[in-house]
This record gives sequence, structure tokens and C-alpha cells, in this order.
Amino acid sequence: MKETVLFKRADENELISAANILREGGLVIFPTETVYGLGANAYDEKAAYNVFEAKGRPHDNPLIVHVADPADAETFAVTTKLYYRLARAFMPGPLTLIIEKKHNIPDEVTAGGGTVGVRCPSHPTAHRFIELCGVPVAAPSANLSGRPSPTRFDHCVADMNGRVDAIIDGGECEVGLESTVALLKGDDEVVILRPGAVTAEALSCVCSRVSSAFELKEGERPLSPGMKYKHYAPRAPLYLLDGERRDVIAFVRGKMKDERCLFLCFDEDAETFSDCRDRTISLGGEDDEALHAHRLFAALRETDVYGETHTLDAIYTYSPKKDGTGLSPAIENRLLRAANHTIIKVK
Ligand code: TXA
Ligand code: MG
Repeated sequence: MKETVLFKRADENELISAANILREGGLVIFPTETVYGLGANAYDEKAAYNVFEAKGRPHDNPLIVHVADPADAETFAVTTKLYYRLARAFMPGPLTLIIEKKHNIPDEVTAGGGTVGVRCPSHPTAHRFIELCGVPVAAPSANLSGRPSPTRFDHCVADMNGRVDAIIDGGECEVGLESTVALLKGDDEVVILRPGAVTAEALSCVCSRVSSAFELKEGERPLSPGMKYKHYAPRAPLYLLDGERRDVIAFVRGKMKDERCLFLCFDEDAETFSDCRDRTISLGGEDDEALHAHRLFAALRETDVYGETHTLDAIYTYSPKKDGTGLSPAIENRLLRAANHTIIKVK
């Protein structure tokens, strides 16, 4: 166990101390607008190795490299015209661009591959911290491997206290889901490897060929190693209920009689479940996708906390909308993986 410094004020002095820890080879968790990241000096092979050890992450899953300015990627990656076009439109912001790497980035960071993910966060604390580090910062999400990504300081403390050198408190992450990961090809093509808040429609405004490769078909090899791992899973099994709203409610009501379960519901369900409010966790109003994204990982973690003091057999929630626009592909992607693709049809 390490002693972990908790930087609760996250003021300039604390960010300077945190940046010093990282530059000297330490691991520092910092907030971003998507989720918290577990940072290390991207040029330091040993520090990068330690990131994988702290998370329990398989070493074949590459890390994203964070910069304070998109042009900083020049020092370790091959920045193309397409890279700058996308960077001008979406950075700083919740987008990671996969481009060819240069030799000064250790293989440990890129898992031996020839490409590197570049991300420039918009969160002011992240931005200042990376700037003070003065080196690119390799950072995966700051959860233990397989658990939901942390969107609050207390999530980071729960997973990583004693495993990292410092944690910076930046409050709640606004977006709540990890960045869109996009692979750049040639002058005018991107392939979305992980859906996020920068949508396919938005990318299409800047680039004429946009496709998606995050729905793996049987036997297909993933372009992004992270896609092959089970993710975001709460401890109790999660089931997605597909059907009319009233049928979903009737199904959950029935289950609540004979099994210990929780329902991740919408605000509109509050009245129906007013007699058992402690067994519901609301993701927000039914149509408020931004709030669903913001709350999803925290809600999954809340079910784990509930499970520590109660028997918990199952978690139910609505099967995500499949309209393919806005945040819905990102929410659907995380929910499907958290539920291990288990959908129950109800009628
Ligand atoms: O929002 C985010 O992206 C957060 C914050 C901290 O920036 N980071 C994050 O990192 O989610 P991580 O490591 O949990 O997820 C990165 C994903 C993984 O699925 C990984 O396989 C993929 O990006 N990835 C990273 N580098 C890649 C590369 N060179 N080629 C293909 N996929 C890559
Ligand atoms: Mg992650």
C-alpha cells in the first residue's frame, strides 16, 4: 500500500505539487470533463507500467495520451491535416484521435502498436494540471479494471486509495462517459472505435467519411483492444428490459416481490415506486440523455454500495433507445457492456 495524497482544494499550489509527483514518476488521478483519469508521464516506461499494475489492466490495452494543446502531440505523433481539422473543431473536448506514433513514446503506453490516442481535455483543472506537468500525460480511466469509470472524487478514492500517489478532487465530471475514440485514416476518413459525446453527426460536419466499428460481430477482431474486455460491470447482474414502459414496470414490480433487486428508473417512475423508493435509482427525466450519461456510472456504483449491506440478486433498467443520434449510441454501448448484452423482452 502506498500513501495517497488527496488534493482536495485543487488550487494552483496543489496542482504544482501534483505535477511534480507525476514528473518524478508517480501516478496522479485527475478530473476531466468525461471521467477521472489515472495519469503518468507518457515518456516514462516504468510509470506507464505502474498504471497497468495499479488498475489491474491487461498490458495489451493501450493508454490515451493527454496534452494541454493539440499541437503538443507533434513531439510524439505524426499530426496530419485531418488531425488539425478535427482538433480545431473539437479540442479541447471529449474526443480522442488515434494517429501514427513516433518512437519516443514507449511501447508500454501504446501496447506495442504503431498508433497513439491523443486527447486534449477541456476541464480547466485537467488543462492546468497537464500544462504544469510539462510532459504528455498517459491516462486511462481511473477505475480498477472492469469496474465502472469514476465520475466523482469518492469513486477514485474507493478504487485507488493506496494504489496511486495522489488524487486531485475536481468534483463531478460533467459528461460522465468516456471520450469518443476515433481512428484517423488518410485525408478525410474517421472510424469511431468508441462512441462518446462527440457524435458521428458532429464528426461528419468536418470529415466526409465517418463510419463506426464498435459493434463487434461474431468472430471479428476489434480495432480498439479495449472493446474486447467486459467493462463497466456492477457486481450484481444487470438486465436490460425491452418493451413498452407499462410492461417494464409490471415486470419490475413482479420481480420486486420475490427477489432482491434494484431498478435504475426515470424520474417519471417515482410515483409508481413511491412505496419502495429505496429500491430505485433515477437516471433523470426520461428524455434527458445528457443527465442519463452524467449519472450512469455513478448509479452503477451506487448499486455496488447497496449490495455491500443488502442481498442484491439483480439490477434492472430500460433497454436503451436505438435512435442512433446524440448521446444514445454512447449510452447504449456502455449499458450493453455493463449488462454483458443481456436483454430481456417483456410484454
Ligand atoms: O474520456 C476518456 O477517454 C478517459 C479520460 C481519462 O481521458 N480515458 C479513457 O481511457 O477512457 P481508457 O484507457 O479507459 O480507454 C481508452 C480506450 C480503450 O478502449 C483503448 O483500447 C482505446 O481507447 N485505445 C487507446 N489507444 C488506442 C490505440 N492506439 N488504438 C486503438 N485504440 C486505442
Ligand atoms: Mg477505461
